[in-house]
Amino acid sequence: ASQGLQQSILGLIRDVPDYPKPGVLFKDITPLLDDSAAFQAVVTAMAEAAGDVTKVVGLEARGFLLAAPVALALGVGVVPVRKSGKLPSETYAETYDLEYGTATIEIHRDALRPGDRVLIVDDVLATGGTAAAAASLVRKSGAEAAGLSVLMELTFLDGRDRLTDLPIHTLVAV
Ligand code: PRP
Repeated sequence: ASQGLQQSILGLIRDVPDYPKPGVLFKDITPLLDDSAAFQAVVTAMAEAAGDVTKVVGLEARGFLLAAPVALALGVGVVPVRKSGKLPSETYAETYDLEYGTATIEIHRDALRPGDRVLIVDDVLATGGTAAAAASLVRKSGAEAAGLSVLMELTFLDGRDRLTDLPIHTLVAV
């Protein structure tokens, strides 16, 4: 993103210490979402970087807030990837490791089809576990994971290293 946009994004992301647990510095994007000019600029920048895609996949929950307007800007459909048990119809599931335990995310089996080129959208890239699992769901669906677009990348967690086969677009890296 441009220097100006990066500065405005950084100014609108609130650091919340010790959330959701002690020692974690949480990146809260709600002030950015509440600033319509900055939000619009973010959506436009994500859409401009997307390339030629046929679907946008949004990752629960904050990813939904970005994926839907990006999909509208691109003129393509948006598909939710949800936490286990939340989607009503038949799904593909992918389980991945967290610091403690595991998480499972799902996609509707009929949401994507072979030939789809999919942009995965989320707010934050941290360890990359969620994005890697989402890319696996896209591939299980027979579609191509064309890229990952995130608002913010926490580079010290090396999430990129788990996503070597996925082009990544980041608006701000910290
Ligand atoms: C956060 C964030 C990403 C993910 C990144 O979601 O919105 O989806 O974690 O972490 P990772 O790169 O280490 O996988 P969270 O699990 O907090 O879900 P929520 O948006 O539903 O609260």
